[in-house]
Order: sequence, then structure tokens, then C-alpha cells
Amino acid sequence: MTLAINSIYNIDCREGLKQIDKESVDLLLTDPPFGISFDRMGTQYNRKQKNLGDLYTEIPQEEYFIFTLSWLRGVWDVLKPTGSGFIFSGWNNLGDILNAISEVGFRLVNHIIWKYQFGVYTKKKYVTSHYHILYFTKLPLNKDHLRTFNRISDYSVSLGKLYFEDVWFINRDYQKGGEKTPTRLPLALTDKCIRMGSEEGDLVLEPFLGSGAVIQSCMTFNRRYIGFEISPEIFQIARNRIEKTRNHIQNRNGTLENWLK
Ligand SMILES: C[S@@+](CC[C@H](N)C(=O)[O-])C[C@H]1O[C@@H](n2cnc3c(N)ncnc32)[C@H](O)[C@@H]1O
Repeated sequence: MTLAINSIYNIDCREGLKQIDKESVDLLLTDPPFGISFDRMGTQYNRKQKNLGDLYTEIPQEEYFIFTLSWLRGVWDVLKPTGSGFIFSGWNNLGDILNAISEVGFRLVNHIIWKYQFGVYTKKKYVTSHYHILYFTKLPLNKDHLRTFNRISDYSVSLGKLYFEDVWFINRDYQKGGEKTPTRLPLALTDKCIRMGSEEGDLVLEPFLGSGAVIQSCMTFNRRYIGFEISPEIFQIARNRIEKTRNHIQNRNGTLENWLK
């Protein structure tokens, strides 16, 4: 592998994926960019960049399926035969993502709903307050996947039965001060995916870092990681957050674990 483990890169993930060893990744955990329609693109280009959200790279709706297919094929190549993945999606891109998952050859295991506590206020349609999480494996479910889930179910008494159902009630984080990013996933959500979908020491891939929530969860639960982000500004935010997490872990443990070096 030409890329270092436990590193993030400011590059297009379609290029980055080509530089990862074949069949080396245990888990994909990602929240890809949105597809937006052309009329909205016009207003996008004129948007003032005072809001950090404008720095996100989004994909024209009509190119979304091809875009998804191209990065997901790269994921297929680098995922171990025992590997699995979680992809997050809003409802507007869901059709393209589901089609790409089956076109590439992955096997869908669960369609999870993440219910959060607020959405945009609307007068003419229902307020969106959920997200889709597609959980899939590369090959049919095998004993390695069962091992992960069994291990987690050891905690079931303390976690409660709801933890294992496919509707997840998790609040969005309240982001006070500092650098705000509008599509940031709550750590409780990325923590849950990491804990249920991987084991300590596993290699986790996040091709669309955003502010880096997935990497923070990897660091918390001793998973190795590799991540990509195309926007230099967003990449810097991810880098800052990862550095803060590193310091936090260092203070908590006194020393850094070897896996972080
Ligand atoms: C929905 S956001 C991810 C948000 C993230 N889950 C968080 O918690 O902040 C998707 C990210 O993918 C980035 N992106 C878009 N196209 C990309 C590409 N081809 N390669 C790498 N990153 C890309 C966008 O700039 C954006 O930051």
C-alpha cells in the first residue's frame, strides 16, 4: 500500500482508492456527498462562502449514479471478502445508492433508519427527520460477521433491546462555537456503526471524511483507519478535530497506543 494507515488525505477518493491494497479493508463507513439538481447548482455557484457548508463538494443529480458506481467499485476491490459496509443516504439519493450497491455485487443485509430530533421546518410537506443507513456485506453473511454481532450482543443487557433494532433514535450533536459543518454526523451514531461492524485493530475506510466523525470513532475504539476528503477547507476541519481527539485520548490514557503512531 502506498498510503499510510491511520492517515487522512486531501484527495479525490476515486484516486485514493486505487492506492489502497486489494482486499485489505474490514469496514467501509461513509456518508457520501449529496446529489443536487441543476437549478440548485446555479444558486450554489453564486453562494457566498461565509457558511462552511458551501465548501462541501456536491454532485449533479444526473451524474450521481455513475459517480456512486465509480467509487463503490473501488471499495469492492479494497474490501476483504469478509468485509462489510455502512453507507448513509438521504431519501433523495437513495434509489441511486441502492442500485449501485446491487450493481457492484454487494449483498444488502439491513436497511436502517436513523431518526433524529429535528428537520427543516416546512409548510407544504412533511418535515424530514430521518436518514437511511444501508448495511451490506461483500459475500454472504458468514461466521466472521456473526462473531462481531455476537460480541456486541454480550453488552445487550446494558444496551437494551432497542439497540439491536433497525430504527435508531440518535440526536444530532449540538455544535456550539468552533468550526461548524452542517452535515456532521453525531459521534453516538458513528460509534455505534464502528462497534457493531468491526473489531479492535480492524481497518476502516471513510472515503468522504467531511469533518471526520468516523475517524474520531475509530480512534476512540482502537480501529485503524484511512480517509479521503476532496475539499481543502473541509479537510483542514477534519484534521483539527482528529488532532483534538488525539490529544483527548492522550490525556485520558496518559500514553498514546501504538496503533495511533
Ligand atoms: C456529506 S459530507 C460528509 C460529512 C461527514 N459525515 C461529517 O460527519 O462531517 C461528504 C463529504 O465528501 C466530500 N467529497 C465530495 N466528493 C468527494 C470525492 N470525490 N472524494 C473525496 N471527498 C469528496 C465533500 O466535500 C464532503 O465534505
